[in-house]
Amino acid sequence: MQHSTQRIKIAVQKKGRLTEHSIDLLERCGLKVTKSKDQLICYGENMPIDLLLVRDDDIPGLVSDDVCDLGIVGLNVVEEKRLQLEQDGSSGQFKQIFELQFGHCRLSIAAPDGLEYRGPESLENTKIATSYVGLLRNYLTNNNIHAEPVYFSGAVEIAPKLGRADFICDLVSSGGTLAANGLREVEVLLQSEAVVIQTLEPLGSEKQALVDKIIQRLDGVLKVNDSKYIMLHAPRSALAEIRALLPGAEAPTVMPLEGAGDRVAIHAVCRENVFWETLENLKAAGASSLLVLPVEKMLA
Ligand code: PRP
Ligand code: ZN
Repeated sequence: MQHSTQRIKIAVQKKGRLTEHSIDLLERCGLKVTKSKDQLICYGENMPIDLLLVRDDDIPGLVSDDVCDLGIVGLNVVEEKRLQLEQDGSSGQFKQIFELQFGHCRLSIAAPDGLEYRGPESLENTKIATSYVGLLRNYLTNNNIHAEPVYFSGAVEIAPKLGRADFICDLVSSGGTLAANGLREVEVLLQSEAVVIQTLEPLGSEKQALVDKIIQRLDGVLKVNDSKYIMLHAPRSALAEIRALLPGAEAPTVMPLEGAGDRVAIHAVCRENVFWETLENLKAAGASSLLVLPVEKMLA
């Protein structure tokens, strides 16, 4: 398809567990958006990027059909669509380009509390309710289990109570839904998180450059999440010990302190959170005037 417009379209979940975080991440990359009246599109004001708000299950299809250039969606939805496309003979028309480190959940098989489960062989000759028929079939085939997937588009967790299935195969995040329905997790099929996918259609150099820039900024945003800037004073003689105590820090900056003899100021970016224990250990090693600051932006 010819790309008539130079604006990038990103498919984002309209309403659900990924929505807020997806838009928030893009805003932290510098994108300012206004929502259309019908709430279907977020127009980018300061960059040629628009967000289409759609059902998460539609996102891989919109990207593979080249309606959208990028999509932010759970790996579970991506992998299910990939299997569907493979089955239809088209080799997944999108590529996964970035892992977003949020929206963690897993696709699992769960059993009613009363039902005995001795391992995958207990699934033999049973019915399993799921919205993820492709991923479930894949698991059953790989483990040589003969069981029948029963498709449910939603409310999968009530299938055993309705007598429609023996087990269910659904997403588990906190586990609250399973517990509330008298179910327990017995097998994990897939670990999922939000990812960015891109159409396989070439975008043209201008659009691709903007996609690369967004991905680089997303990378920077994720990197600063846990990063801290730490400042402290310490005797120069304790430098080696202090460096060893700083979590995930690269070469620190060491500066003399005017009129303080042997004491120096040490500044470092720590790629991990700095906990109270670390500060206490640093103090025990001779540090004083400890200060820990959040890092707002980072560009390697
Ligand atoms: C999933 C899944 C469960 C729930 C599990 O649905 O179908 O209902 O989340 O989460 P919990 O372990 O934290 O209780 P989701 O909200 O993702 O909606 P969707 O699958 O219909 O998009
Ligand atoms: Zn969904």
